Amino acid sequence: MRSNAQYADKDYWESRFEKESHYEWLAGFDSYREVLLKYLPPDQSILHIGCGSSDLSMRLYELGFKNITNVDYSETLISSRKEQFPEMEWICDDITSLSEIKDGSFDIVLEKATIEALLVKEKSAWSPSSSALSTIDSVWTAIDRVLKKGGLFLSISFTQPHFRIPALLRNPKWNIETDSFGEFFHFFVYVCRKGEDNREMMERYSKIAPDWLRSATEE
Ligand SMILES: C[S@@+](CC[C@H](N)C(=O)[O-])C[C@H]1O[C@@H](n2cnc3c(N)ncnc32)[C@H](O)[C@@H]1O
Repeated sequence: MRSNAQYADKDYWESRFEKESHYEWLAGFDSYREVLLKYLPPDQSILHIGCGSSDLSMRLYELGFKNITNVDYSETLISSRKEQFPEMEWICDDITSLSEIKDGSFDIVLEKATIEALLVKEKSAWSPSSSALSTIDSVWTAIDRVLKKGGLFLSISFTQPHFRIPALLRNPKWNIETDSFGEFFHFFVYVCRKGEDNREMMERYSKIAPDWLRSATEE
């Protein structure tokens, strides 16, 4: 049996996208549409990171969001998406740097299930490795850099708040709200607003999973 660890390898995604034209991780658009739209005022510029073969961007486009840029590190995926959906931007880039994206250029950064893919090799949800913390720090720094002041990072995830909120609090300048959807199994939408104080949340969450808030250089 194949291990989930493959989801952290770029080569795995390259070969998967040679065959796959559509797949939805976690949930399809109709199940989270209502929750997501609460945080997306019209005319926002949206950067969808780790877009994969999801139709999330296309569904938003149909609803009138015309300023959408998609990022994934799979060249195979990005070149085929560019041909299929030229009405949007498609950029091949790594979300640990977003080096192709200018500072302060988006109102919204959106992701679904990509942070999970980055952490798939972790042995414990309570005790992240130093390498995981350093990856997360790079991703948060990149997202924060490309967001406009007051912009939102929206993360659609199955990770429970007691693990994900302390991870998000590694960026001390995000105020975090949690929303959810799903009937039998709950999924979460983490809403992080750039430039707001999060001291109160830090006090509440730092005791729950303190290892997520340790320095990335400590073992
Ligand atoms: C679990 S899939 C999620 C795809 C899509 N967001 C969805 O919900 O269906 C993870 C996606 O993130 C991409 N990815 C993983 N690590 C990445 C990285 N460091 N930089 C850019 N893209 C990455 C993969 O190529 C893949 O398309």
